[in-house]
Amino acid sequence: MMSPDWRPPTLETDRLVIRSFEEADAGPLYLHAANPNVTRFTLWEHHKSISDTMLFVRDYARLRYIEGVPEPYAVALKDDPGRQPVGAVGCFWASLPNRTMELGYWLAESVWGRGLAAEACRPVVSYAFTACGPQRMQARVIAGNTASVRVLEKLGFRYEGTLRSGLYRRGVFEDVLIFSVLRSEWESR
Ligand SMILES: CC(C)(COP(=O)(O)OP(=O)(O)OC[C@H]1O[C@@H](n2cnc3c(N)ncnc32)[C@H](O)[C@@H]1OP(=O)(O)O)[C@@H](O)C(=O)NCCC(=O)NCCS
Repeated sequence: MMSPDWRPPTLETDRLVIRSFEEADAGPLYLHAANPNVTRFTLWEHHKSISDTMLFVRDYARLRYIEGVPEPYAVALKDDPGRQPVGAVGCFWASLPNRTMELGYWLAESVWGRGLAAEACRPVVSYAFTACGPQRMQARVIAGNTASVRVLEKLGFRYEGTLRSGLYRRGVFEDVLIFSVLRSEWESR
């Protein structure tokens, strides 16, 4: 357990600032989280009102930060002086006793196709391996999400297999692809 004011450190890449969420992010993030194209392959539903987004940036974030994990991080473009969030990325414990973390990410549709997801994930995964000490970083992708598979391939994750009909979502059974990278592989990449 961390103190209630602990936040994951701000990370920077060429094009991005990756920082913790705050309440003021709810409005700008809602504009993107309300887009059903964004949630086509996600475990969460598109936001119906700003209070859905407030639950994420304030309440969900508070629960994760107190665990000391880099989840959720806001992704902002350095180009934008307001540094408004255009998505979220993070690593959380999938299984603490097994020292397995999971990577998740999503970006606003307006910034897709520029390689920004992999750019955002790289320093976050590095920070998670260093600060939280997992043995394994995994990622789950709903079958059909080719852009997401490409992101994981670019990051050096390895495809392990498919949980056939492993997810019942929106009234449909979906296949779930499992990817992972081990600590030693990440460190020697
Ligand atoms: C999946 C997602 C994070 C990818 O992020 P991104 O920064 O757009 O990814 P990239 O720019 O690296 O594109 C990945 C691949 O998808 C394809 N792609 C992505 N956006 C595209 C677009 N608008 N038009 C055409 N192809 C596109 C490209 O072929 C690219 O492959 P390449 O690197 O071989 O060229 C983003 O599309 C997203 O947020 N989707 C909705 C949420 C989601 O599904 N999250 C993942 C859940 S597991």
